[in-house]
Amino acid sequence: MTTLAAVSSPHETLTIRPLQPTVGAEISGIDLRRPLTDEVRDEIKAAVLAYKVVFFRDQELDRAQHEAFARRFGPLYIHPSVKRTANEGITAIHPIASDAFKELENRRAAQPAGDQWDGYHADTSWRLDPTWGAVLRAVTLPEVGGDTIWVDAGLAYRALSDEVKERLAGLHVVHDFRDALTGAGLDYPIVAHPIVRKHRETGETIGFVNFSVHPWIVGLDRAESTELLTAIIDQYRKPEHQVRFTWRPGSVAFWDNRAALHYAVRNYGDTRRLLERVLIADEPQFADI
Ligand code: SIN
Repeated sequence: MTTLAAVSSPHETLTIRPLQPTVGAEISGIDLRRPLTDEVRDEIKAAVLAYKVVFFRDQELDRAQHEAFARRFGPLYIHPSVKRTANEGITAIHPIASDAFKELENRRAAQPAGDQWDGYHADTSWRLDPTWGAVLRAVTLPEVGGDTIWVDAGLAYRALSDEVKERLAGLHVVHDFRDALTGAGLDYPIVAHPIVRKHRETGETIGFVNFSVHPWIVGLDRAESTELLTAIIDQYRKPEHQVRFTWRPGSVAFWDNRAALHYAVRNYGDTRRLLERVLIADEPQFADI
């Protein structure tokens, strides 16, 4: 296992401190309200690629500053479930509210037998070109609880047995988000993604399954699909492959959806929890076809 060491930045007072050996780092010495120089932007991007998720504390971002920070890393993506209000003007902010989690739980309770729905997910993997980046900002937090977990999906893949890796090679998994999309008035085709993927920028091999979109491996019967998906989620669930983040007022997380899955811990009852997320679009995969 490669363990990442602390990085001292050549720029100003930026400090990058790993929180776990391969996943998660805290970046301090920066005020995200200010425009980023190209050098600092590149350094943050390199940290996101290296650690898969980075965290900032004590930031006082408003929505426009939140969007402006994210936009430095690529074009923003507006999620279809975001309600666009003409007079608000800021459209990429996606509220992640505790009441939406309740809806998810209801859908989960209604799932058919054998459906492997679970909270480990990557954002917008129901799209042909999922968004690569996400910047999430604390708005309203429960007094205690409501952490978020990120999984190092490269480490989780490497931990699979050779036999499982051989069986997974070349397989695709369905990511079916139709229930939510039709609710938002959209008809988007169901897509399937390769389970074993090479990260476009780092070259790392990743085991990529979004368990919140009813995964089912294409061409396999339910029993075999379940067996292989269980082998993957067992690795996602290992604390050795995770970093867990406790939100505080002013906390911001920035992650790479191509390299890390995440899981919102729902342990705060009916207390209100609101975070706001901005998604960063990836390059289209099939633009030259
Ligand atoms: C998300 O799934 O993007 C948000 C995670 C969280 O609410 O902790």
